[in-house]
Amino acid sequence: MNHLLTIDELGADGIDDVMRTTDTFAEVNRRPIPKVQALRGKTVVSCFFEDSTRTRLSFETAARRLGADVMTFSAASSSLKKGESLRDTVETLEAIGADAFVVRHRSAGVPTQIASWSRAKVVNAGDGQHEHPTQALLDCYTLRTHLGDLHGKQIVVVGDIKHSRVARSNIAAFTALGAKVKLVAPATLLPASVGEWPVEVTHNLDGALDDADVVYLLRIQQERTDQALLPSLREYSAGFGLDAKRAARLKPGALIMHPGPMNRGVEIAADVADAPNAVITEQVANGVAVRMAVLFLMLGSGDLNA
Ligand code: NCD
Repeated sequence: MNHLLTIDELGADGIDDVMRTTDTFAEVNRRPIPKVQALRGKTVVSCFFEDSTRTRLSFETAARRLGADVMTFSAASSSLKKGESLRDTVETLEAIGADAFVVRHRSAGVPTQIASWSRAKVVNAGDGQHEHPTQALLDCYTLRTHLGDLHGKQIVVVGDIKHSRVARSNIAAFTALGAKVKLVAPATLLPASVGEWPVEVTHNLDGALDDADVVYLLRIQQERTDQALLPSLREYSAGFGLDAKRAARLKPGALIMHPGPMNRGVEIAADVADAPNAVITEQVANGVAVRMAVLFLMLGSGDLNA
């Protein structure tokens, strides 16, 4: 694997490749000492220019479990504050020994730009409203462990689609694997281009629940909007939140997913987030194995025990 910037560049075969490799690392993660030395001597730099809990820690854990060294770049306390450019920063980190950059940034396209400047590999860990490919991969892996082949499965994605890089990467991945995607959101939280996407769109959550195999909830990304797109969070929740009454209408075996961070009581009721068919913490756990697979496919020699 070269860089990982978007889901489309992987395609269905690339996604399958990551899924197969993830099986190997999921096994490693079940060992008493979940560690191999496949990336010993490699340096992975985690560059988060935007807040993150699970993605950053998951990547750093993944890199360490592969035996790599991890450099954590902290934008807020770096020489960016003294006016150093992003390009000079990248060149500096490369000179220190970076083999891969894991990049999150509030602007779409920054990971692609870094990839064009650098000899190191780049993983997009979320860029603006654009893409978050490893989130989509860990969601596909989680879905496959429960549902097997995703062909023909109905996945309902609910919430702030407009500002969501998770929605964009997940729609690309789910449809590449043959699933049908239905988006549910108020008109103000849908992008203008949604008509060109390979999805069905509705504003009625209740009507979308009966034949759903998966309900995937998204947070309202208030940090990406400066306009009032909703009358109030309470009204949003009444129309588009998954509460216990709505969750009870799902068919047996249907899954509830969320990429985190959750706003319990807004897009998902607190008790629904903890229901047996909610696989939200499994998503997080699978994220480590998926990111091990991605880093290994990028930087490894092909031999797990080399
Ligand atoms: C998401 C993100 O940052 O794109 N979180 C994540 O990585 N799991 C979604 C969000 O912030 O709502």
